[in-house]
Amino acid sequence: MTTNRVLTGIRPTGPLHLGHYVGALKNWLAIQNGQEHECFFLIADVQALTTHASRPELIKESVFEVLADWLAVGLDPTLPRTHFVVQSMVPARYELSTLLQMVTPNSWVTRNPTVKAEMESLKEEMVVGFATYPVDQAADILMVADIAQGAAGRILVPVGEDQLPHLELTREIARRFNKIYGCDLLPDCKGLVGDVGRLVGTDGNAKMSKSLGNAIYLSDPADTVAAKVNAMFTDPNKLRATDPGNTDHHVPFMYLRDLHPDKDKVASMEADYKAGRLGDMPVKRELITALNELLEPIRERRAALHSRTDLFDSVIHGTECARRLCEHVVGAMKEQMRLDYVGALPLGRIDAW
Ligand code: TRP
Repeated sequence: MTTNRVLTGIRPTGPLHLGHYVGALKNWLAIQNGQEHECFFLIADVQALTTHASRPELIKESVFEVLADWLAVGLDPTLPRTHFVVQSMVPARYELSTLLQMVTPNSWVTRNPTVKAEMESLKEEMVVGFATYPVDQAADILMVADIAQGAAGRILVPVGEDQLPHLELTREIARRFNKIYGCDLLPDCKGLVGDVGRLVGTDGNAKMSKSLGNAIYLSDPADTVAAKVNAMFTDPNKLRATDPGNTDHHVPFMYLRDLHPDKDKVASMEADYKAGRLGDMPVKRELITALNELLEPIRERRAALHSRTDLFDSVIHGTECARRLCEHVVGAMKEQMRLDYVGALPLGRIDAW
């Protein structure tokens, strides 16, 4: 039986918020709990440096925050097929990244629309490592290639839509490597985009983000969540509950539509709001309840973390697992590239493993 490996990652530049939950973590959890795939969840601290090299303390703190958030939502590195990987702790990944750079035409990287948009905002601040990060991300993915399966062992990558150009690039690099060296070594990868896209910020801005100050964090206590919901923008023209209302840009309704478990209830509340039978207060109260029901189990799991001394070991174990796989991949690639000068020694041979 062939099973696909799953790899995905996050840049540790702050604590995780509801946008991460809706757009990514929920999907990752379902994949983990489906027990069909071996999962690698990567803390991309090296990639975080492409924009935050001057904030080392922030990155370090965020690595621990992201770990706690992952554990709190129910990702579980003590499961035999869930691996947490700290990117900077896999040295062979840099080697893989460099080798991939040598078969990647520069034009493939510069045409990437996600990178283009990001480059515009960075301007002179852009570091060399940023310009090549999509290739580095290809290394993140290909490091867990199951080389025993060759190109057939496709890697699944649950990500948001903005990451799809990176996956396209990863596929193209893998194919190009296989073509140049006439081998069947590096596999394809495939994006898995979750059904809910992107959650707006509490201010109605298209993006929920730390820098915009419009995020609800997974670690927010109940009263903070209530205060953030109560400050949300609704319909400014509806002065009384009995006025007819518009819900198009009504932030609490946008959240309810994405997050409330009972869609019929939300639809009927929306009809009442439009018809002037419902005011903002009960809508906000409904959202506060729904959010706290979602966040309460996460808070409980977080509170229990300090007694789990096994967790640190399991993170090291997951990272070690990725390191071994990556060394296999690099070894096999070097053989193809004839960088196999020590091939005669048992140490350099894959089949000795
Ligand atoms: N670029 C991704 C993001 O910003 C994070 C990431 C790093 C990633 N390495 C990855 C995603 C590998 C998927 C696969 O969200």
